[in-house]
Amino acid sequence: MKKLLVVGLVGLAMVACTKKEGQEGAVIKIGAAGQLTGPEAVFGSDMLNGVKLAVEEWNAKGGVLGKKIELVPGDDQAEPRQAVAVANKFVTEGVVGVVGHFNSSCSIPASEVYHKAGIPQISQACTNPKLTDQGFDNVFRVCGLDDQQGKAAADFAVQKLKVKRVAIIHDKTTYGQGFAEEFKKNLGTGVEVVAFEGIAKGEKDYSPVVTKIKSANPDLVFFGGIFTEGGLLIRQYKAVGGTAPFIGGDGIMSEELLKIGGPATEGTYATFGPDTKEIPSAKGFNENYRKKYGEPGVYSVYAYDAANIILQSIQKAGAADGKKITPEIRAIDYNGALGHIQFDAKGDVKESPYVVWKVENNKFKQVK
Ligand code: ALA
Repeated sequence: MKKLLVVGLVGLAMVACTKKEGQEGAVIKIGAAGQLTGPEAVFGSDMLNGVKLAVEEWNAKGGVLGKKIELVPGDDQAEPRQAVAVANKFVTEGVVGVVGHFNSSCSIPASEVYHKAGIPQISQACTNPKLTDQGFDNVFRVCGLDDQQGKAAADFAVQKLKVKRVAIIHDKTTYGQGFAEEFKKNLGTGVEVVAFEGIAKGEKDYSPVVTKIKSANPDLVFFGGIFTEGGLLIRQYKAVGGTAPFIGGDGIMSEELLKIGGPATEGTYATFGPDTKEIPSAKGFNENYRKKYGEPGVYSVYAYDAANIILQSIQKAGAADGKKITPEIRAIDYNGALGHIQFDAKGDVKESPYVVWKVENNKFKQVK
Protein backbone atom coordinates (compact mmCIF):
# COMPACT_ATOMS: atom_id res chain seq x y z
CA MET A 1 0.00 0.00 0.00
CA LYS A 2 2.81 2.37 1.02
CA LYS A 3 4.69 1.45 -2.14
CA LEU A 4 1.62 2.23 -4.23
CA LEU A 5 1.27 5.61 -2.56
CA VAL A 6 4.90 6.46 -3.29
CA VAL A 7 4.51 5.42 -6.93
CA GLY A 8 1.34 7.53 -7.11
CA LEU A 9 3.07 10.57 -5.64
CA VAL A 10 6.02 10.22 -7.99
CA GLY A 11 3.56 9.99 -10.88
CA LEU A 12 1.77 13.14 -9.77
CA ALA A 13 5.07 14.98 -9.39
CA MET A 14 6.00 13.96 -12.94
CA VAL A 15 2.70 15.32 -14.31
CA ALA A 16 3.25 18.59 -12.41
CA CYS A 17 6.76 18.88 -13.87
CA THR A 18 5.48 18.39 -17.42
CA LYS A 19 2.85 21.06 -16.85
CA LYS A 20 5.35 23.60 -15.67
CA GLU A 21 8.12 22.75 -18.06
CA GLY A 22 7.25 25.56 -20.48
CA GLN A 23 7.56 28.16 -17.78
CA GLU A 24 10.24 26.77 -15.54
CA GLY A 25 12.09 24.17 -17.57
CA ALA A 26 15.22 24.42 -19.61
CA VAL A 27 13.28 25.66 -22.64
CA ILE A 28 10.50 28.11 -23.36
CA LYS A 29 7.74 26.56 -25.44
CA ILE A 30 5.63 28.31 -28.00
CA GLY A 31 2.87 26.63 -29.98
CA ALA A 32 2.14 26.85 -33.70
CA ALA A 33 -1.33 25.57 -34.54
CA GLY A 34 -2.95 25.00 -37.88
CA GLN A 35 -3.90 22.42 -40.49
CA LEU A 36 -0.61 20.52 -40.77
CA THR A 37 -2.28 17.59 -42.53
CA GLY A 38 -5.32 17.21 -44.80
CA PRO A 39 -6.35 19.01 -47.99
CA GLU A 40 -5.40 22.48 -46.70
CA ALA A 41 -2.03 21.38 -45.28
CA VAL A 42 -0.13 23.86 -47.44
CA PHE A 43 -1.57 26.70 -45.36
CA GLY A 44 -0.43 24.86 -42.22
CA SER A 45 3.12 24.39 -43.45
CA ASP A 46 3.29 28.02 -44.63
CA MET A 47 2.45 29.01 -41.05
CA LEU A 48 4.74 26.49 -39.39
CA ASN A 49 7.74 27.53 -41.50
CA GLY A 50 7.14 31.21 -40.72
CA VAL A 51 7.16 30.44 -36.98
CA LYS A 52 10.16 28.11 -37.38
CA LEU A 53 12.16 30.86 -39.05
CA ALA A 54 11.44 33.29 -36.21
CA VAL A 55 12.34 30.68 -33.56
CA GLU A 56 15.55 29.70 -35.39
CA GLU A 57 16.62 33.34 -35.59
CA TRP A 58 16.00 33.90 -31.87
CA ASN A 59 17.73 30.66 -30.91
CA ALA A 60 20.75 31.59 -33.03
CA LYS A 61 21.04 34.71 -30.87
CA GLY A 62 20.79 32.70 -27.65
CA GLY A 63 17.01 32.23 -27.30
CA VAL A 64 14.89 34.31 -24.96
CA LEU A 65 15.49 35.04 -21.25
CA GLY A 66 18.63 32.92 -21.57
CA LYS A 67 16.68 29.82 -22.60
CA LYS A 68 16.25 28.01 -25.89
CA ILE A 69 12.87 28.32 -27.53
CA GLU A 70 11.08 25.09 -28.40
CA LEU A 71 8.48 25.20 -31.11
CA VAL A 72 5.55 22.86 -30.43
CA PRO A 73 3.49 22.19 -33.58
CA GLY A 74 -0.22 21.39 -33.24
CA ASP A 75 -2.22 19.86 -36.09
CA ASP A 76 -5.87 20.93 -35.97
CA GLN A 77 -6.61 19.40 -39.41
CA ALA A 78 -8.87 22.44 -40.03
CA GLU A 79 -11.39 20.76 -37.69
CA PRO A 80 -12.90 22.73 -34.79
CA ARG A 81 -12.89 19.78 -32.38
CA GLN A 82 -9.32 18.94 -33.22
CA ALA A 83 -8.40 22.61 -32.67
CA VAL A 84 -9.76 22.46 -29.11
CA ALA A 85 -7.81 19.23 -28.53
CA VAL A 86 -4.63 20.93 -29.78
CA ALA A 87 -5.28 23.91 -27.48
CA ASN A 88 -5.72 21.62 -24.47
CA LYS A 89 -2.55 19.75 -25.38
CA PHE A 90 -0.63 23.05 -25.52
CA VAL A 91 -1.91 23.98 -22.04
CA THR A 92 -0.83 20.62 -20.62
CA GLU A 93 2.57 20.89 -22.26
CA GLY A 94 3.25 24.31 -20.75
CA VAL A 95 3.20 26.33 -23.95
CA VAL A 96 3.37 30.05 -23.06
CA GLY A 97 2.17 31.61 -26.33
CA VAL A 98 0.45 30.38 -29.48
CA VAL A 99 0.60 31.38 -33.13
CA GLY A 100 -2.63 30.24 -34.82
CA HIS A 101 -5.00 28.93 -35.67
CA PHE A 102 -5.65 29.48 -39.38
CA ASN A 103 -9.37 28.86 -39.85
CA SER A 104 -11.87 31.00 -37.97
CA SER A 105 -13.85 27.82 -37.21
CA CYS A 106 -10.75 26.56 -35.34
CA SER A 107 -9.33 29.80 -33.91
CA ILE A 108 -12.56 30.82 -32.18
CA PRO A 109 -13.31 27.62 -30.20
CA ALA A 110 -9.60 27.21 -29.36
CA SER A 111 -9.45 30.79 -28.07
CA GLU A 112 -11.75 29.83 -25.17
CA VAL A 113 -9.17 27.29 -24.01
CA TYR A 114 -6.31 29.79 -24.29
CA HIS A 115 -8.38 32.39 -22.49
CA LYS A 116 -9.12 30.08 -19.56
CA ALA A 117 -5.46 29.13 -19.34
CA GLY A 118 -4.22 32.72 -19.68
CA ILE A 119 -2.06 31.91 -22.70
CA PRO A 120 -1.73 34.61 -25.36
CA GLN A 121 -2.91 33.61 -28.84
CA ILE A 122 -2.09 35.50 -32.03
CA SER A 123 -3.81 34.28 -35.15
CA GLN A 124 -2.04 34.98 -38.41
CA ALA A 125 -5.11 34.34 -40.55
CA CYS A 126 -8.41 34.24 -38.63
CA THR A 127 -10.44 37.02 -40.21
CA ASN A 128 -13.91 36.47 -38.71
CA PRO A 129 -14.71 39.42 -36.40
CA LYS A 130 -15.98 37.14 -33.61
CA LEU A 131 -12.45 36.11 -32.58
CA THR A 132 -11.75 39.49 -31.02
CA ASP A 133 -15.40 40.40 -30.33
CA GLN A 134 -15.43 37.91 -27.46
CA GLY A 135 -13.61 40.38 -25.22
CA PHE A 136 -10.71 38.04 -24.38
CA ASP A 137 -7.72 40.14 -23.31
CA ASN A 138 -5.21 37.47 -24.44
CA VAL A 139 -6.46 37.04 -28.03
CA PHE A 140 -4.97 38.89 -30.99
CA ARG A 141 -4.65 38.72 -34.76
CA VAL A 142 -2.14 40.22 -37.16
CA CYS A 143 -4.41 39.90 -40.23
CA GLY A 144 -7.46 41.96 -41.15
CA LEU A 145 -11.15 41.24 -40.61
CA ASP A 146 -13.91 40.03 -42.90
CA ASP A 147 -15.98 43.18 -42.52
CA GLN A 148 -13.02 45.04 -44.07
CA GLN A 149 -12.28 42.26 -46.56
CA GLY A 150 -15.96 41.94 -47.57
CA LYS A 151 -16.18 45.68 -48.16
CA ALA A 152 -12.95 45.72 -50.19
CA ALA A 153 -14.27 42.92 -52.44
CA ALA A 154 -17.68 44.59 -52.84
CA ASP A 155 -16.17 48.03 -53.57
CA PHE A 156 -13.94 46.49 -56.22
CA ALA A 157 -16.89 44.62 -57.78
CA VAL A 158 -19.09 47.70 -57.89
CA GLN A 159 -16.59 50.48 -58.63
CA LYS A 160 -14.00 48.75 -60.80
CA LEU A 161 -15.82 45.79 -62.38
CA LYS A 162 -19.14 47.68 -62.48
CA VAL A 163 -21.10 44.48 -61.93
CA LYS A 164 -24.89 44.44 -61.87
CA ARG A 165 -25.62 40.76 -61.19
CA VAL A 166 -23.68 38.82 -58.60
CA ALA A 167 -23.89 35.16 -57.54
CA ILE A 168 -22.59 34.29 -54.09
CA ILE A 169 -21.36 30.88 -52.95
CA HIS A 170 -19.94 30.06 -49.50
CA ASP A 171 -18.72 26.94 -47.72
CA LYS A 172 -21.04 27.31 -44.68
CA THR A 173 -18.08 27.83 -42.34
CA THR A 174 -17.67 30.69 -39.85
CA TYR A 175 -15.23 32.30 -42.27
CA GLY A 176 -16.81 31.50 -45.63
CA GLN A 177 -20.38 32.38 -44.73
CA GLY A 178 -19.43 35.40 -42.63
CA PHE A 179 -17.26 36.81 -45.42
CA ALA A 180 -20.03 36.17 -47.99
CA GLU A 181 -22.54 38.05 -45.85
CA GLU A 182 -20.18 41.00 -45.44
CA PHE A 183 -19.61 41.08 -49.20
CA LYS A 184 -23.37 41.00 -49.86
CA LYS A 185 -24.06 43.73 -47.30
CA ASN A 186 -21.60 46.07 -48.99
CA LEU A 187 -22.81 45.66 -52.59
CA GLY A 188 -25.38 48.43 -52.37
CA THR A 189 -28.74 48.73 -54.05
CA GLY A 190 -27.50 48.92 -57.65
CA VAL A 191 -26.45 45.26 -57.65
CA GLU A 192 -28.78 42.28 -57.79
CA VAL A 193 -27.75 39.17 -55.88
CA VAL A 194 -28.97 36.49 -58.28
CA ALA A 195 -27.97 33.52 -56.09
CA PHE A 196 -26.76 32.90 -52.53
CA GLU A 197 -25.72 29.27 -52.10
CA GLY A 198 -24.00 27.28 -49.37
CA ILE A 199 -21.96 24.21 -50.33
CA ALA A 200 -20.71 21.27 -48.28
CA LYS A 201 -16.95 21.28 -47.80
CA GLY A 202 -14.96 18.30 -48.94
CA GLU A 203 -17.13 17.19 -51.87
CA LYS A 204 -15.71 16.59 -55.31
CA ASP A 205 -18.72 17.23 -57.54
CA TYR A 206 -20.31 20.66 -57.39
CA SER A 207 -22.12 20.40 -60.73
CA PRO A 208 -25.64 21.02 -59.31
CA VAL A 209 -24.61 24.35 -57.76
CA VAL A 210 -22.47 25.56 -60.66
CA THR A 211 -25.24 24.68 -63.14
CA LYS A 212 -27.69 26.71 -61.04
CA ILE A 213 -25.24 29.63 -60.85
CA LYS A 214 -24.68 29.56 -64.60
CA SER A 215 -28.40 29.77 -65.31
CA ALA A 216 -28.68 32.78 -62.97
CA ASN A 217 -26.41 34.56 -65.47
CA PRO A 218 -24.18 36.60 -63.10
CA ASP A 219 -21.47 39.12 -64.09
CA LEU A 220 -19.36 37.94 -61.16
CA VAL A 221 -19.31 34.91 -58.84
CA PHE A 222 -18.18 35.50 -55.25
CA PHE A 223 -16.82 32.57 -53.24
CA GLY A 224 -16.35 32.62 -49.48
CA GLY A 225 -14.17 29.64 -48.61
CA ILE A 226 -10.84 27.90 -49.14
CA PHE A 227 -8.93 27.06 -52.35
CA THR A 228 -9.80 23.36 -52.06
CA GLU A 229 -13.46 23.94 -52.91
CA GLY A 230 -12.74 27.23 -54.72
CA GLY A 231 -10.56 25.54 -57.35
CA LEU A 232 -13.17 22.86 -58.03
CA LEU A 233 -16.03 25.37 -58.24
CA ILE A 234 -14.20 27.55 -60.74
CA ARG A 235 -13.20 24.58 -62.89
CA GLN A 236 -16.65 22.99 -62.83
CA TYR A 237 -18.45 26.32 -63.44
CA LYS A 238 -16.33 27.02 -66.52
CA ALA A 239 -16.83 23.40 -67.65
CA VAL A 240 -20.62 23.87 -67.78
CA GLY A 241 -20.10 27.01 -69.88
CA GLY A 242 -20.05 29.71 -67.17
CA THR A 243 -18.10 32.80 -68.20
CA ALA A 244 -18.22 35.23 -65.25
CA PRO A 245 -14.99 35.69 -63.27
CA PHE A 246 -14.76 34.56 -59.64
CA ILE A 247 -13.74 36.69 -56.68
CA GLY A 248 -12.70 35.22 -53.33
CA GLY A 249 -10.58 36.24 -50.37
CA ASP A 250 -7.54 35.18 -48.38
CA GLY A 251 -8.81 31.59 -48.26
CA ILE A 252 -8.19 31.07 -51.98
CA MET A 253 -4.83 32.87 -52.08
CA SER A 254 -2.71 29.84 -52.76
CA GLU A 255 -0.90 28.35 -55.74
CA GLU A 256 -2.98 25.28 -54.92
CA LEU A 257 -6.05 27.07 -56.30
CA LEU A 258 -4.31 27.28 -59.66
CA LYS A 259 -3.37 23.59 -59.56
CA ILE A 260 -6.87 22.42 -58.62
CA GLY A 261 -8.75 24.82 -60.90
CA GLY A 262 -6.31 24.72 -63.83
CA PRO A 263 -6.57 27.25 -66.68
CA ALA A 264 -10.17 28.06 -65.63
CA THR A 265 -8.73 30.12 -62.75
CA GLU A 266 -7.19 32.68 -65.13
CA GLY A 267 -8.80 36.07 -64.38
CA THR A 268 -9.91 35.08 -60.84
CA TYR A 269 -9.79 37.87 -58.26
CA ALA A 270 -9.03 37.70 -54.54
CA THR A 271 -8.76 40.19 -51.70
CA PHE A 272 -5.66 40.05 -49.50
CA GLY A 273 -3.02 42.36 -47.99
CA PRO A 274 -0.47 44.09 -50.23
CA ASP A 275 2.29 42.12 -51.97
CA THR A 276 5.15 41.70 -49.48
CA LYS A 277 7.61 41.42 -52.37
CA GLU A 278 7.16 45.18 -52.64
CA ILE A 279 7.39 45.95 -48.92
CA PRO A 280 11.01 46.89 -48.04
CA SER A 281 10.60 45.68 -44.44
CA ALA A 282 9.75 42.16 -45.71
CA LYS A 283 12.87 41.82 -47.88
CA GLY A 284 14.99 40.05 -45.26
CA PHE A 285 12.16 37.72 -44.34
CA ASN A 286 11.50 36.77 -47.96
CA GLU A 287 15.18 36.03 -48.62
CA ASN A 288 15.76 34.04 -45.45
CA TYR A 289 12.51 32.09 -45.79
CA ARG A 290 13.23 31.23 -49.42
CA LYS A 291 16.70 29.90 -48.55
CA LYS A 292 15.28 27.49 -45.99
CA TYR A 293 11.75 26.66 -47.07
CA GLY A 294 11.24 27.79 -50.66
CA GLU A 295 8.66 30.33 -51.78
CA PRO A 296 6.67 31.71 -48.82
CA GLY A 297 2.90 31.31 -48.76
CA VAL A 298 0.92 34.52 -48.38
CA TYR A 299 0.38 33.99 -44.66
CA SER A 300 3.96 32.84 -43.83
CA VAL A 301 5.09 36.39 -43.07
CA TYR A 302 2.06 36.97 -40.82
CA ALA A 303 2.98 33.85 -38.82
CA TYR A 304 6.61 35.02 -38.65
CA ASP A 305 5.62 38.42 -37.28
CA ALA A 306 3.13 36.86 -34.84
CA ALA A 307 5.89 34.61 -33.46
CA ASN A 308 8.28 37.54 -33.16
CA ILE A 309 5.66 39.57 -31.31
CA ILE A 310 5.23 36.75 -28.78
CA LEU A 311 8.98 36.31 -28.34
CA GLN A 312 9.65 40.02 -28.01
CA SER A 313 6.87 40.23 -25.43
CA ILE A 314 8.32 37.34 -23.41
CA GLN A 315 11.60 39.20 -23.32
CA LYS A 316 9.93 42.44 -22.27
CA ALA A 317 7.84 40.69 -19.62
CA GLY A 318 11.01 39.12 -18.23
CA ALA A 319 9.00 35.97 -17.60
CA ALA A 320 7.69 33.08 -19.65
CA ASP A 321 4.28 33.46 -18.09
CA GLY A 322 1.21 34.02 -20.27
CA LYS A 323 -0.40 36.42 -17.82
CA LYS A 324 2.69 38.65 -17.90
CA ILE A 325 3.23 38.31 -21.66
CA THR A 326 -0.31 39.37 -22.63
CA PRO A 327 -0.05 43.00 -21.42
CA GLU A 328 3.26 43.34 -23.30
CA ILE A 329 1.61 42.19 -26.54
CA ARG A 330 -1.24 44.61 -25.93
CA ALA A 331 1.20 47.50 -25.53
CA ILE A 332 3.64 46.50 -28.26
CA ASP A 333 4.92 48.99 -30.81
CA TYR A 334 6.39 46.49 -33.22
CA ASN A 335 8.30 46.98 -36.44
CA GLY A 336 8.43 43.69 -38.28
CA ALA A 337 8.46 42.21 -41.75
CA LEU A 338 4.92 43.42 -42.44
CA GLY A 339 5.79 46.90 -41.22
CA HIS A 340 4.47 48.65 -38.15
CA ILE A 341 2.07 46.69 -35.91
CA GLN A 342 0.11 47.89 -32.90
CA PHE A 343 -3.04 46.36 -31.46
CA ASP A 344 -6.28 48.14 -30.66
CA ALA A 345 -8.34 47.54 -27.52
CA LYS A 346 -9.89 44.40 -29.01
CA GLY A 347 -6.62 42.81 -30.12
CA ASP A 348 -6.97 43.64 -33.83
CA VAL A 349 -4.21 45.37 -35.76
CA LYS A 350 -4.72 49.10 -36.04
CA GLU A 351 -4.11 49.05 -39.79
CA SER A 352 -4.89 46.24 -42.20
CA PRO A 353 -5.28 47.45 -45.77
CA TYR A 354 -6.91 45.07 -48.25
CA VAL A 355 -6.03 45.14 -51.92
CA VAL A 356 -7.24 43.04 -54.85
CA TRP A 357 -5.18 40.37 -56.58
CA LYS A 358 -5.82 38.71 -59.94
CA VAL A 359 -4.66 35.47 -61.54
CA GLU A 360 -2.67 36.38 -64.64
CA ASN A 361 -0.55 33.88 -66.55
CA ASN A 362 -1.16 31.33 -63.85
CA LYS A 363 0.10 33.58 -61.00
CA PHE A 364 -1.61 35.76 -58.40
CA LYS A 365 -0.62 39.40 -59.03
CA GLN A 366 -1.66 42.49 -57.11
CA VAL A 367 -4.02 44.63 -59.19
CA LYS A 368 -2.57 48.12 -59.53
N1 ALA B 1 -9.30 33.99 -43.07
C1 ALA B 1 -9.73 32.63 -43.07
C2 ALA B 1 -10.45 32.27 -41.83
O1 ALA B 1 -10.61 33.11 -41.00
C3 ALA B 1 -8.63 31.75 -43.37
O2 ALA B 1 -10.86 31.16 -41.65
